[in-house]
Amino acid sequence: MAKSVSLTVGDNSYDFPVLGGSTGPDVVDIRKFYAETGMFTYDPGFTSTGSCESAITYIDGDKGMLLHRGYPIDDLAKNCNFEEVAYLLLNGELPNKEDKETFEHDITYHTMLHEQIHNFYSGFRRDAHPMAIMCGVVGAFSAFYHDSLDITNPDHRRISSYRLIAKMPTIAAWAYKYSLGQPFIYPRNDLGYAENFLYMMYATPCEDYEVNPTLARAMDRILILHADHEQNASTSTVRLAGSSGANPFACIAAGIASLWGPAHGGANEAVLNMLKEIGDVSRIDEYVKKAKDKNDPFRLMGFGHRVYKNYDPRATILSETCKEVLDELGVKDNPLLDIAVALEKLALEDEYFIEKKLYPNVDFYSGIIFQAMGIPVTMFTALFALARTTGWIAQWNEMIEDPQQKIGRPRQLFTGQTERPYLPLGKR
Ligand code: ACO
Repeated sequence: MAKSVSLTVGDNSYDFPVLGGSTGPDVVDIRKFYAETGMFTYDPGFTSTGSCESAITYIDGDKGMLLHRGYPIDDLAKNCNFEEVAYLLLNGELPNKEDKETFEHDITYHTMLHEQIHNFYSGFRRDAHPMAIMCGVVGAFSAFYHDSLDITNPDHRRISSYRLIAKMPTIAAWAYKYSLGQPFIYPRNDLGYAENFLYMMYATPCEDYEVNPTLARAMDRILILHADHEQNASTSTVRLAGSSGANPFACIAAGIASLWGPAHGGANEAVLNMLKEIGDVSRIDEYVKKAKDKNDPFRLMGFGHRVYKNYDPRATILSETCKEVLDELGVKDNPLLDIAVALEKLALEDEYFIEKKLYPNVDFYSGIIFQAMGIPVTMFTALFALARTTGWIAQWNEMIEDPQQKIGRPRQLFTGQTERPYLPLGKR
């Protein structure tokens, strides 16, 4: 029998259907709620609201489980390269050998930026934040790639998707080069996705540069771990922007803007800044106290998650990668890592963090790895944006193909002035 829930308001009773997914909590279908009851539902922060139907990523926050198209994240991170995961997110299945080669070839051959995009960079101050540059350059893409803007055309959507995934490492690496005043390094088609990104970040035209394979693998893994994460703030932003029919470049620029905040993608930058501010293992107690103090706005950055009420599975993988990278680079004494390890231990044993189920999230370790690789703090969120572009674009495509898709238009609980007569200037 089809399930439903009943709501009683005064003498009236209303039934709403309950929909079941392939796994996870059922949802109450309230699409007719306003029409039938004359009321809105109220859920700021969307803590109990499903905004769409999706078959891409599944998270069980209590179990600490993350699946992409059914595959556990640790299997993907250990056995696939980023391109395979991107293909999986976009197409629903892992590629066979031939599909993999074709996809990698197609992505590789879109990595160059239109030559005129150089001019965009010179419009920014040298100290511009890379996220500001990424927002600007990606937003400007719609002025350069007119030939793939018809969102109703699947071929246009595919080309735009490939362009975005392929060009994002070039945009991010060039933002870094611009901040240094070094020449832009063009992509190399013989390199893998993560390897090519590191090459464009660190090579100069003056000498040969070989990408360290351990660091390339670590970067590839970081990109996989950040590739998609269900209906988070930036993904929902991309979907909401796209629901109006806006072009994909504009939508991804909106996603980048949303990711920038310290409660979201900006957290890895905030973790490093926090570790620097703590400065010494002896001061950890003081900062944990601050984090627990209701009257102090300070929070332990890299701890807590809206969905995970258990270890973030990505943080577990990243803590291993972090050790590999530090070993490879011969980092024996890293004061920030010492603080991070001690902080993690203390917080995991603290009643406040246990009771509120606050565990380290993915950002807790990514910042330390990036720092060891010599990536400047301001680039951290840009790297997150580059990885997440694949998820954003997969979710955007899914939304466009969804026959139930409508423009996103939430309602509100109005608490402002009700209607009143206009007051002429002399009477105010
Ligand atoms: N340090 C101290 N206390 C915390 C922390 C933290 N990092 N995170 C949550 N809490 C406390 C809150 O004060 C709140 O306490 P209360 O119930 O007594 O009021 C309780 O835990 C629940 O927190 P909320 O803010 O209601 O949880 P929400 O789901 O809205 O927030 C968020 C999740 C934004 C991630 C939060 O945990 C946070 O700010 N963490 C630090 C920033 C961070 O690491 N962000 C990265 C998120 S992962 C990502 O985007 C990839």
